[in-house]
Amino acid sequence: MQTTKTLGEFIIERQSQYPGSSGALTLLFSSIRLAAKVVHREINKAGLVDITGAAGEENIQGEQQQKLDVFANDRFKTALAARGVACGIASEEEDNYVTFDEGHNKDAQYVVLMDPLDGSSNIDVNVSVGTIFSIYKRVSPTGEAVTEADFLQPGKDQVAAGYVIYGSSTMLVYTTGNGVNGFTYDPSLGVFYLSHPNMQMPQDGRIYSVNEGNYIHFPAGVKKYIKYCQEEDLASHRPYTSRYIGSLVSDFHRNLIKGGIYLYPTSSSYPNGKLRLLYECNPIALIAEQAGGSASAGPNQRILDIKPTELHQRVPFFVGSKNMVAKVEEFLG
Ligand code: AHG
Ligand code: MN
Ligand code: MN
Repeated sequence: MQTTKTLGEFIIERQSQYPGSSGALTLLFSSIRLAAKVVHREINKAGLVDITGAAGEENIQGEQQQKLDVFANDRFKTALAARGVACGIASEEEDNYVTFDEGHNKDAQYVVLMDPLDGSSNIDVNVSVGTIFSIYKRVSPTGEAVTEADFLQPGKDQVAAGYVIYGSSTMLVYTTGNGVNGFTYDPSLGVFYLSHPNMQMPQDGRIYSVNEGNYIHFPAGVKKYIKYCQEEDLASHRPYTSRYIGSLVSDFHRNLIKGGIYLYPTSSSYPNGKLRLLYECNPIALIAEQAGGSASAGPNQRILDIKPTELHQRVPFFVGSKNMVAKVEEFLG
């Protein structure tokens, strides 16, 4: 592992490759980095202090909010509002978008969309969770009120996207559309170090990740694909291995490194799929594509091309190694 370059140094080095860049994105990343450290600290002592369990409220999507969902949402929101570079955020845990388009953020150019804590159901049992973020340039005029259109941009217009995985070690993985790099956190120093430069997703993999408890409710093409994964075929190294953590960030991170596919199709409980286009699918899709993988909502439905119509929109999601996503599309087609 290369432990010499820190995330801060890496960002400054990249920024200097773009003469004339304002440095705003650098400040935005430092907000995200700070909030990630605070959330890391709280997650690491989650069994000791009263921060596990339900918060007693539901979010707008009817899901029980966990205390750490609320905590992470507040920390990221506060950090993003602090440096004058974000004019608003949208979050899985907020009913509507939140604007900070006054005061020192008045001329800010960027909006951030996020899933502050992904995989909430894993918190109480000491299993990996994550944070997912997505950054766009606003489309409304600078200095005026932020509008919903600033948030409803197709994923292909993302300026940057990334995730933090709070796992056996904490990592921050991100892209600005020029490859994917991963940084591992050294908690003793409070510093992220470049540990996974230029991450590449294998074109093929042997892992499939899906909640098979919903099998009977899946579309016929998905059922056939799951059977295909389980079939014996020495030439294509099947049967594949099934791995499902229940946290998109963690399942995707493993598949990014080892090769694999993550599926969350439509089902009777989730007729449009469960995962949120803006907070989960778009940022993970950009990272997948930048690492040589792909992400789709079905045949010929590239995630990054979807024009969102509402903030909390859900879509079916198939993401991972390129050939595996192509195969599931073939079964669905
Ligand atoms: P969140 O905790 O942000 O609501 O996201 C949970 C998501 C995703 O991370 C995970 O893969 C999926 O929901 C798990 O859903 P099931 O429990 O239905 O499999
Ligand atoms: Mn999530
Ligand atoms: Mn969440």
